[in-house]
Amino acid sequence: MKACTRDTYGEADVLAVRDVDTPTPAADEVLVQVRASSNDRGVWHLMTGRPYLMRPFTGLRAPKVRVLGRAFAGTVTAVGPNVTRFGPGDAVFGTSGHGTWAEYTAAPEKLVAPMPANVSPEQAAAAVISGVTALQALRDTAKLRPGQHVLVIGAAGGVGSFAVMIAKSMGATVTGVCSTSKVDLVRSLGADDVVDYTREEVDARGPRYDVVVDTAGNRPLSLLARALTPDGTVALVGGEDKQGLLLHGFERQLFAPLTGLRHRRTMRNVLTRENAADLAALGELMSSGAVTPAIVHTYPLADAPEAMRYLAAGHPAGKVVITV
Ligand SMILES: NC(=O)c1ccc[n+]([C@@H]2O[C@H](COP(=O)([O-])OP(=O)(O)OC[C@H]3O[C@@H](n4cnc5c(N)ncnc54)[C@H](OP(=O)(O)O)[C@@H]3O)[C@@H](O)[C@H]2O)c1
Repeated sequence: MKACTRDTYGEADVLAVRDVDTPTPAADEVLVQVRASSNDRGVWHLMTGRPYLMRPFTGLRAPKVRVLGRAFAGTVTAVGPNVTRFGPGDAVFGTSGHGTWAEYTAAPEKLVAPMPANVSPEQAAAAVISGVTALQALRDTAKLRPGQHVLVIGAAGGVGSFAVMIAKSMGATVTGVCSTSKVDLVRSLGADDVVDYTREEVDARGPRYDVVVDTAGNRPLSLLARALTPDGTVALVGGEDKQGLLLHGFERQLFAPLTGLRHRRTMRNVLTRENAADLAALGELMSSGAVTPAIVHTYPLADAPEAMRYLAAGHPAGKVVITV
């Protein structure tokens, strides 16, 4: 089968689309013919092997898994003997640790959900990582309630665009933060208000947000605390710090609860836990029309390295999808 692979860690130049063996599903896995995958920062981390802290898990000197990608949507073609929920011909979406920028991938049944009939493979693949992260940040980390006011920092990005739509579907008032060229995109996602961060800082309007979801990760936590109501919650999703080779800025999240104590505000780290139930919940949100993934760029598998170059440039809008 064709797949986008690499033999070493590095930037997008290490990627090549070539022929590799089709995977064989383990006892608890489904084999899926991939129709679409997507790109996100997590895939960039797997490609570069940065932060170094992850290398004991991903391969010390070279990546253990040569095929890139984590999200997929497609059709089941075979199942392992212990699989009970799926059979050949089922349309599914989910995550795999074996690489998904490929014509086929194998994935554990517990990380796979049925793909609703009125949701396209491109939409489903776009939602897998970023949508589940946004859902868990709002529902589990911030415990968002209807009527609350949410500030989404990085509202035009992968996680942020889903956070805007999911928060609206949960009955919240949403203010999105983005740069000037993305204001229209964020409004189109349903944001009630938009802060253009090139003109206004997020605390300029005082302590008015019950929940702050931060996906950009580059503001002092003291500043986020100033934007928060006294019993509000900051949910720290991430951010990129290319200078921090060991932790890549993750220390900001790691120490968030302590920093929160200092500022007398609740600050929590978001650590996504992929699972079939949350994928199914997202499937329902997409099927009902409450969430429509903001797919801004689509690349065929042959151009997958370009999909990575676009993301790595640093300011993507919406989701980047790869079609197979
Ligand atoms: N905790 C977890 O389990 C988890 C899960 C998924 C992702 N993450 C992390 O979360 C982060 C975001 O992921 P993503 O996939 O959403 O990334 P993304 O698609 O690259 O989006 C990042 C967004 O940040 C915005 N941004 C950059 N500088 C900004 C600033 N100063 N103020 C406001 N917005 C700014 C960019 O928009 P502009 O062009 O408008 O600046 C961009 O849209 C990444 O670091 C990723 O690794 C963590």
